[in-house]
Amino acid sequence: MSAYIRSVSTYCRRSIAAKPLLTNSLRYSDGAVLETTLRLPLILHTIQNADADPHDRQGFAHFMLKEIYEQPEVVRTCLAAYLKPDWTTGEQAEIPSSPFNFSLPAAMLADATQIQIVACGTSYHAGLVAQHWLEQLAGIPTRVRSASEFVSAPPPLTTNTLTIAVTQSGETADTLAAVKARRSRSEGFQSWLLGITNQPESSLSAAVDATLPTLAGTEVGVAATKTFMAQLVVFRCLALEFAYRRRVLSAQQVQQAIAALQALPDQIEAVLQQEYETIQTVAQTFAAVHDCVVLGRGINRAIALEGALKLKETTYIHAEGYAGGEFMHGPIAMLDANVPVIAIVPSGSVYESMLANAQKVKTNGAPLIGITNVTEPPDCAMFDYQCTLPPIDEQLSPFLTVVPLQLLAYTIAVQRGLDVDRPRNITKTLTS
Ligand code: M6R
Repeated sequence: MSAYIRSVSTYCRRSIAAKPLLTNSLRYSDGAVLETTLRLPLILHTIQNADADPHDRQGFAHFMLKEIYEQPEVVRTCLAAYLKPDWTTGEQAEIPSSPFNFSLPAAMLADATQIQIVACGTSYHAGLVAQHWLEQLAGIPTRVRSASEFVSAPPPLTTNTLTIAVTQSGETADTLAAVKARRSRSEGFQSWLLGITNQPESSLSAAVDATLPTLAGTEVGVAATKTFMAQLVVFRCLALEFAYRRRVLSAQQVQQAIAALQALPDQIEAVLQQEYETIQTVAQTFAAVHDCVVLGRGINRAIALEGALKLKETTYIHAEGYAGGEFMHGPIAMLDANVPVIAIVPSGSVYESMLANAQKVKTNGAPLIGITNVTEPPDCAMFDYQCTLPPIDEQLSPFLTVVPLQLLAYTIAVQRGLDVDRPRNITKTLTS
């Protein structure tokens, strides 16, 4: 039997006999062998009917690893739910027909002249990526606000500001408090509240005017991974919707943008498949460090922050996420041979400036790990280690650049012998 395995969940639907750590083929308990093009870190020896329990690790050593590997399927699921399969452009109509299944009040999107996003932690970082798309693609002024700061320093009210609250759990106390504050202060104002959450039955959904579910399935690991990926998909679709409605993008450009989204699951799979061993090497080399820096520019500044959060949360290493340029204004003084720097260097608008930042880091003696889709020497020769991504448009690069950072955080945490699914001092949902 030979087949191309499209996702972890696909092959996990049958029971599997013993396999080593990284595998291209699976032997089922009935004796059949399934050849795959993916090499996957299967760790348990037998998987019995993995569909039965959503809290089953399905062959992975930890939920975090399982959830990282579920990301291609999560993107597919979200796109299947949000894309209209039979969309025809209707470009001549006054309001062009939407390519997306949002089921939102029409005025919510039509009225918005500004957007503010409120969220915490990883959801906040998804908001920062979204800010880039909403401003740079759709041309809508967007602010991302820390939900935990919102109540004590509420921003001045402005009409036609769409507030988007993002929370995977839908129960984060800080985010709910920000939504409540926004609701109570904005009476008499034309303003809408939209929720983006992985829990459509949550307190958030009850508090907002409409909800967009992220459809990532249950996330057990405290470190958010696949829910972040799903938040990005929903935000990208929303930004494209705004851009199309405002005729910033033509129907043809939206079609191209949708095709690029549809290519993502295979690209994420390629990163998981090809970079696993590089990540193992990097993790072994740096598992004992005390400090680490992640640098990114433009849209990948958000991913630098998210990568540093993942590292702090799971490995307890002091990790700083910085915009590449800003890091030069003082923090670079902390570098020496014991402080590895991870530089996110996608091709595109920030390529040259990120390379210059990386070079500066290197000359200050720090070990340098590059995450890049550019492979030609001499540019890449400066990296001590390199995670290579498939070719990708810079605007979409966060979908890929975050993956090696998630894997690295996971792998270092395991190497340090930590409880990766349940880090100390935090819980999955901060309800107080
Ligand atoms: O459920 P939420 O998305 O509202 O949670 C917000 C943060 O508490 C959460 O993202 C936290 O930062 C994660 N544990 C990060 O992995």
